[in-house]
This record gives sequence, C-alpha cells and structure tokens, in this order.
Amino acid sequence: MAGCLGNKLWGGIFGGSTDPVMEKLNTSINYDQRLSEVDIQESMAYAKALERTGILPKCEMEKILGGLAKISEEWSKGVFVVKPTDEDIHTANERRLKQLTGDIAGKLHTGRSRNDQVVTDLKMFMRNSISVISSHLQQLIKTLVERAATEIEIILPGYTHLQRAQPIRWSQFLLSHTLPLTHNSEHLGEVKNEHLAFGKNINIGIEKLDFASISLNSMDAVSERDFVVEFLSVASLMMIHLSKMAEDLIIYCTSEFGFITFSDTYCTGASLMPQKKNPDSMELIRSKAGRVFGRLSALLMVLKGLPSTYNKDLQTEGRTIFHGSYTFHTASPEPFSPTPPG
Ligand code: ARG
Repeated sequence: MAGCLGNKLWGGIFGGSTDPVMEKLNTSINYDQRLSEVDIQESMAYAKALERTGILPKCEMEKILGGLAKISEEWSKGVFVVKPTDEDIHTANERRLKQLTGDIAGKLHTGRSRNDQVVTDLKMFMRNSISVISSHLQQLIKTLVERAATEIEIILPGYTHLQRAQPIRWSQFLLSHTLPLTHNSEHLGEVKNEHLAFGKNINIGIEKLDFASISLNSMDAVSERDFVVEFLSVASLMMIHLSKMAEDLIIYCTSEFGFITFSDTYCTGASLMPQKKNPDSMELIRSKAGRVFGRLSALLMVLKGLPSTYNKDLQTEGRTIFHGSYTFHTASPEPFSPTPPG
C-alpha cells in the first residue's frame, strides 16, 4: 500500500505514514526505470566486490547474482511488475531481489546507498547513450560527406543576410554543416573519456563496470553532475547545428527557392491544400533544439545553490539526461535530394 513505511528502504525510525501527495512528489520510478539494466549490472559488480572482501559468502553471492539475472530478464521481457511502493528503480530491484532470494538481499546494501547507486547508474547509462548518439552522428556525417562528393557539380547561390551573394558548390554547403557536427562528435568522445571514466567512491570492482578509475573524493562522487552538464552542453550545441541545417533546408525546399525536394518519407501534407508538402521533420529538429538547451539551463539552476553532497533536487534534475539523450533519433541517409537542374 502506498504510504506504508514497512516496505521502505529508509523506513527505520519513521512512525507516521507518508502523505500520498508526498509519495507522488518523491517517486522517480516512472522515469528512472530506464536505469533498470545498468542498476542490475552495478549491483552484480557490487555483490562480487562484497564477496571478495569477505562480507558475502560465495553461496549468498551466487544466489544474489541469480536473482539479479532473473530481474534483468523480467525487465527485458517487459514483465517486471512495478509496485506502488517502489519509490525508485533501486528500491524496485532490491524489493524484487528480496522476494526472490529472501533476507540476504538486504546484504547488498552493505556500505552502499542509493546516492552511490544513482550516480554510478547515470554514468553507465550516459556512456551507453553517448555511444548510440555518436554512431547516429557518424552516420549523418558520412552521408553528408558522400553526398558532397557525388553532387560536387551542383552550383547554387551562396547567401549573406539571406541576400544572394556568390555562387557556391552545393558540396561546400553540405560540408559547412558537416564540420561543426564533426567537432560535436569529438566533444562527445571527450565527455565519455574524461567525465565518465571515473566510478563511484567505493571500489566495487570498477574494472567490471568498465570504469578506468575510482573517484578521488567521496563527497564529490555522490554529488557531482558535471558529466551531465558537459553532455548537455555538447548536446545543446549539436542541436543548434542540426537546427541551423534544418532551417537552411526548410528555406531551400520552398517554391520560392526550389533548390531541393524532400523525400516524401519525411514530410506531411495538408488535407485542404493538396499542393503542400511540409518539411515537418526539419521543423521538429529545429524545435527540439530549444528543449535540450532548456534542460541544460534547468540543471545549472539546480546545481548552483546545492549544499555539499547529495540532495533530492538531483533526483528530478539529474534526469535531464533522459530528455537530452532521447531527443536524438536515427539520422536517415537520404532525407533530401537536390532538385534536378532545369
Ligand atoms: N531516487 C533517488 C535519486 O534518484 C535515489 C537517492 C535517494 N537518496 C536519499 N538519500 N533519499 O536521486
């Protein structure tokens, strides 16, 4: 039952129940479910570390690992049942582990808090997201470069102040948008290598989680979200570049300019005016740029006044990463084609 303290990880000294409104305000399971898999990987590494240090006997570690593997399977098959008392993903996984393995599940919490878990999970999640985004970005860059090579003979007007200036090659236009994206790709790699290389404060078998090193200061480790800020900064700039490219292409596909024709796949029409083919895909990219930047400024506003170490503010705003990373979609190789000459 929501509000019942008996099931809460932190129920210890509490006598009174939680107001249902507070339950709703406090819960993060709706959005941090995305961390389910990394949370399990992190717990597996932690169980092994507890065994190595002698805190957990081998047989209990094996039971815990078996339980976690089963939970992972339930999440991946979409059959994990979230209970109203599951405040967040860490609570949900641990509650289910207790059902599967009994009281030994509680031992997994030895020397570890959700504050440690969430930052480790977020780093692992972000590393995966950056890999996905980087491969889409590489595909887009490759496509632009290939099109620049094959369509090198196409000439179109260059513009300043949106007034016709000198003739340019269409290829040069394409590459002018490719270069900034290449820089974004490099910066994404730097975020991954420089900000996501450090694990949490406790040595939990970082090699198993693919972290190069442990964080040097435990107070900093649980509270720092610089890696999210760095990611959202690069993501904002990348969205600005994509938005600018989208804007150029929107202008170029109008009948007034008529330089390119969009593939039907990425446009919509109008029921009343059948002559219209609207470049909605480009307009949506343009609009989503604002959303990513908005997440960055929201996070900066949260971070600026926080007292040291973990504060609950980090729960809601730390998740800006989800919105930031899910704004990016697969870049298609053939979104537009130059209008054939004549
Ligand atoms: N769900 C929380 C988060 O995502 C976990 C940390 C809760 N910590 C606490 N001390 N209440 O940030």
